Amino acid sequence: MSNKDDKFKKLISHCKEYGFVFQSSEVYDGLAAVYDYGPNGVELKNNIKKYWWQSMVHMHENIVGIDSAIFMHPKVWKASGHVDAFNDPLIDNKDSKKRYRADQLIEGYCEKIENKIKKDVTKAKKRFGDDFDEQQFRSTNGRIIDRQKKIDAILTRMNDSLTKEDLGDVKALIEELEIACPESGSKNWTDVRQFNLMFSTQLGTIAGEEGKLYLRPETAQGIFVNFLNVQKTARQKIPFGIAQIGKAFRNEIVARQFIFRMKEFEQMEMQFFIRPGTEMEWYKHWKETRLKWHLALGHPAEKLRFHDHEKLAHYANAATDIEFEFPFGFREIEGIHSRTNFDLSQHQELSGRKLQYFDPELNESYVPYVLETSIGCDRMFLATVGHALQEEVVPDADGKDSTRTVLKLHPALAPVKCAVLPLVKNKEELTAKARKVHDKIKMAFNCQYDEKDAIGRRYRRQDAIGTPYCVTVDFETLENDTVTLRERDSLEQIRIPIDEIESRVAHNVSMQRLFIDEKE
Ligand code: GAP
Repeated sequence: MSNKDDKFKKLISHCKEYGFVFQSSEVYDGLAAVYDYGPNGVELKNNIKKYWWQSMVHMHENIVGIDSAIFMHPKVWKASGHVDAFNDPLIDNKDSKKRYRADQLIEGYCEKIENKIKKDVTKAKKRFGDDFDEQQFRSTNGRIIDRQKKIDAILTRMNDSLTKEDLGDVKALIEELEIACPESGSKNWTDVRQFNLMFSTQLGTIAGEEGKLYLRPETAQGIFVNFLNVQKTARQKIPFGIAQIGKAFRNEIVARQFIFRMKEFEQMEMQFFIRPGTEMEWYKHWKETRLKWHLALGHPAEKLRFHDHEKLAHYANAATDIEFEFPFGFREIEGIHSRTNFDLSQHQELSGRKLQYFDPELNESYVPYVLETSIGCDRMFLATVGHALQEEVVPDADGKDSTRTVLKLHPALAPVKCAVLPLVKNKEELTAKARKVHDKIKMAFNCQYDEKDAIGRRYRRQDAIGTPYCVTVDFETLENDTVTLRERDSLEQIRIPIDEIESRVAHNVSMQRLFIDEKE
């Protein structure tokens, strides 16, 4: 097992052990690609959503929020193109009976070639030391050039075939490349066919196709169909945005990698309505703004990158992904799409209602263009915990080296902001005093009272869930109303009056710091 696999396994078991994420319906052996958030998980997830919501809605005068229903009129999904085109190309292996996304099998093949290139680059880096110029090496080394050409040719052919809906050629490519089933090694494949990703259900009152309802596969359409309601009632002028956080559902066949790809997940989406012709300006603006949002959390710049789309969806004239380096490599965490006026025009046509804006400056009406930012809350959760989870050697209570597992979350996101710990459990005066301290500060932020086990173990427990501060109530507290305040990352302990706990902790755990950092 590679070091990365090992790290990812540790992350998954840490999430379970400390009440962040559980497999859904675990007592029945689980439901694939569906997960539940535990007591610490729901706090962290709520904090991520709060950071996004406040940053979008409260920090922008021209962005307002909505909460639209999961069920929508079935024509919505016809208009948006999801009924006809929200498909994955699937292929089955006849021997192992395993089902795969054909495009992912081909991309996986290319990733292996890319890994060989990376190995050559790493070797050369070692050989040439500081003088090494990676770009020059990549563009002059014959073996790398050949490999890169091979990747480009494969991906171009795959994308062309998918665009032309030539699924026969996608299968032919898999066979020519001799791609085998990762489970069984067999190359005995079925044909490739399209599979719609929307879940459907039936209205009780209407039988047949007429009564077919879909669980929304994205929250964006609830924003589009409410565009005029919101614009008028919130008295907004273009440019303005509508933000929404909510559940989305996709029948993902190939769902792996824990909460990275789920059947039920949460999106945080914002549609920004703009004048036609200004979309490239806003595209640039939102790319920069969203990257800063990620960086403000302390995620290092080298773990984030843009991946501009070459093959654009039918509704887009520019699109990029913000990718994060997960334990299994760089993957999409957020999409930024210039969606033109596709969605509003489609809804206008199918509903027969005008979805236009009268621009008083231009003295004309038009269907606005839309710039979308769309981030998966669960992917953001995975990125945040994955980056924060660390093991480090620190001195224990006796001054000896010991390894601690610590979740170095940004304090504003931490599930518990401060733990209150009586030094020992069996001294009534200490526990009563500690309870009093807890009752006082729990009104300001989420706190936890813990008296079980030795103090060192309790510190470690709080480190493992990312609690930035621990307050210890000891015998000196009974004499002079002071406590020790321990900081998670520096391990520094200082003595402060009980009355100062709230102000010291509140300042450091507040979201305000994130908004200031975002601006810089
Ligand atoms: N409205 C645009 C839209 O839905 P998308 O790229 O399909 O675009 C946006 O999805 C984001 O939603 C992705 O960047 C990802 O973070 C998240 N997402 C999409 N499918 C997901 C899934 N099956 N499980 C978890 N998150 C998912």
